[in-house]
Amino acid sequence: MAKLWGGRFDDCIDPVLEKLNSSINTDQRLWRVDIKGSKAYAKGLKDINLLTQEEENEIQKGLDNIYDEWENEKFAIQLSDEDIHTAIERRLKEMIGPETGGKLHTGRSRNDQVSNDMRLYIRHEMYPKLSLILSLLLQGLKNRANQYILISKDETTNKPLIFPGYTHLQRAQPVAFSHWILSYAWPFKRDLDKLKYIVSQEPWGISTLSLGSGAIAGNPLKGFDRIKLAKELDFQHCSLNSMDATSDRDFIMDILYWASIVGIHLSRLSEDLILYSTKEFGYIILPDKYTTGSSLMPQKKNPDSLELIRGKSAILISNCNALLVILKGLPSTYNKDLQDDKRLLFDSFDILLSSLKIMVGIIDAFEVNEDRCYNALSPDMLATDLAYYLVNKGLPFRDAHHVSGKVVNFAEKNLTTIDKIDLKDLKNINPLFEKDVINIWNYVNSVEQYKAIGGTGTSSILSQINVLDQYLIDK
Ligand code: ARG
Repeated sequence: MAKLWGGRFDDCIDPVLEKLNSSINTDQRLWRVDIKGSKAYAKGLKDINLLTQEEENEIQKGLDNIYDEWENEKFAIQLSDEDIHTAIERRLKEMIGPETGGKLHTGRSRNDQVSNDMRLYIRHEMYPKLSLILSLLLQGLKNRANQYILISKDETTNKPLIFPGYTHLQRAQPVAFSHWILSYAWPFKRDLDKLKYIVSQEPWGISTLSLGSGAIAGNPLKGFDRIKLAKELDFQHCSLNSMDATSDRDFIMDILYWASIVGIHLSRLSEDLILYSTKEFGYIILPDKYTTGSSLMPQKKNPDSLELIRGKSAILISNCNALLVILKGLPSTYNKDLQDDKRLLFDSFDILLSSLKIMVGIIDAFEVNEDRCYNALSPDMLATDLAYYLVNKGLPFRDAHHVSGKVVNFAEKNLTTIDKIDLKDLKNINPLFEKDVINIWNYVNSVEQYKAIGGTGTSSILSQINVLDQYLIDK
């Protein structure tokens, strides 16, 4: 089959190169946006009388038929279809004849076509799916947080579920379980906000039309109206330099970097869930649906789903890195190196979408072992509270911290816990200790004292949930 660009060649392309050069397997998913772009471009050609009304109608109808073929999985890709643009053009010529079909490409190059397709693809196909799934994840995290704000153990006491908070993976301070869950809602909310920003940022990137830039020099057709074309395709702006527009991939780098950050958030959440589901921690039980067994050890319930998410985040980072490296040494305008931007973008999109879907399922369905959470708390985690107790008695915090450390040391040496030390012994360490020190040994009080915005106290958690509620309603 003749190549689009075959005119100046005597010899055929080496078959190995033909394969390497072909991107149809990867870029066929651009078919919807490629047709959308072509339909708008055909109108532009008709406006300047390069197509008659009849020819434009034929092209529009042909493109609609090709759309239906793709939609109904009837489009037959041929070996000679180098990429989605050539495939659709080839089919259009077959359908409406080479003469009219061949006019669509007037003044257009695959260089501006592919760059424009990518902008449309991110906006129309990636953005709606990614923003929806991120909203569902936020909703899920918020619901689970809501569930553990107040839990009734014996109906007379109503208290938040509390468990150990860790720094350096060492027991640090008691925190509300809901506070931990919400600590992952905020990163995903930032991700959602940033995605919106990337997709709508003006006046460059995805909101900017690049079609009409030709191969490098622009569009030479007299009277061709790019502003009208931009409006037709719902772009807010027109690129102002054809050499920049054809090779600008900043918006893809933005998305890949963004995807890497989401991947890191997913990976860290996965890591917590994996740890907390081990027998050693035992705070949560993962849903069967998202775990697998071992072919050898019958007792095993492995968190493969979370391990996959954690592992795939590395691919998201490497896809971003690959594009950065592809771009860094390119001479100006289009070079074929850029063809791989699609493989990287689509791969990251697919990974992210399935990782997020799985995470939504896990967040909705994991069970919590409340007893394990409470039982994991230990009095040493109240050593900071003991220091605050002394602060309230007038001791400067640095001194109070030192005294509390002495109390911890005393307990360790006497093989006891800090809450079991006699008042007399405490007074020996520091005379400010009084009978009311007993009030410190209460995990609920400990958590509830963190009332300031951002703390783990119930009032702060309720306000976090309110803000998320409002955010999700406003969306
Ligand atoms: N398939 C190509 C790509 O994705 C389309 C642009 C080809 N342009 C060219 N001059 N060979 O990058």
